[in-house]
Amino acid sequence: MWRRAYKPAIFLLCLLPLAQMLWQLSSGALQPNPVEALLHGTGDWTLRLLLVTLAVTPLKRLTGWRRPVLWRRMLGLFSFFYAVLHFLVWLALDRELLWSQILEDLTKRPFVMVGFAAWLILLALAVTSNLWSMRRLGANWKRLHRLVYAAALLGVLHYWWLVKADVREPLIYLAVYAGLMALRLPWPPGGTVMSPWRRSL
Ligand code: HEM
Repeated sequence: MWRRAYKPAIFLLCLLPLAQMLWQLSSGALQPNPVEALLHGTGDWTLRLLLVTLAVTPLKRLTGWRRPVLWRRMLGLFSFFYAVLHFLVWLALDRELLWSQILEDLTKRPFVMVGFAAWLILLALAVTSNLWSMRRLGANWKRLHRLVYAAALLGVLHYWWLVKADVREPLIYLAVYAGLMALRLPWPPGGTVMSPWRRSL
C-alpha cells in the first residue's frame, strides 16, 4: 500500500529544488546575483539527479532491491528537466538572447562546449525514453542510452572547467561518478556483484 506512494513522493521531492529556487527568487534571497544563483542551482541539480539515476543499478546489484528501477526513467527525465532550465536561464537571462555572443560561447569557450555536448546527449536520451522508441530502436536503444555515462562525465568536466581555483566540489562529483562506475564492474571478475546486504524486494 505504502509502496504505491513512493513514485509520487519522489516526483514531488524532485520538484523541491525548483520550488526552493522560486521561493528564494521571490523573497530576494538570491540577491545580489539571482541569475548566477539560478544558473548554479539548476546546474547542480542536473548533475545530482543524473548521478542519482546512475546509482539505481549499483543499488540493485548490491542490495537486490529492484524497486528503484521503476523510478529510474523519471529521475533521468528530472535531470533533463533541470538541464533545460539551466540552458534557458543561460540563454535568456545570462546571455540575454544575444545570439552572436551565444554562438561565440558555444564555439569558443571549452566549458560551455562540454556542457552543451552533455545537454545534447540528455536531449537524445529524453526524446527516446519512451516505449515506442525502445521498440523501434531495438538493441540500439541500449547502446544509445549508454551515452548517459558520457553525459555525466561531461557534466563533471564542465563543472571542473568553470571553477577557477577551488575544485573540491567537482572533485566530490568526480569521486561519486567514479564510485558508481566501479560498482558496475563484475565482482568477482567475470561474475556478478554480490553483497552481504543483498535482500529480496
Ligand atoms: C547548454 C548547455 C550548458 C550551458 C551553456 C551551461 C552553462 C553554464 C554556466 C554559464 C555556468 C555558470 C558558470 C559560472 O558561474 O562561471 C554553469 C554552471 C554549472 N553547470 Fe552548466 N551548462 C550547460 C549544461 C550543463 C549540464 C548538462 C550539466 C550537468 C550534467 C551542467 C552542470 C553545471 C554545474 C554543476 C554548474 C556549476 C554549479 C555551481 O557552481 O554550483 N551544465 N553552466
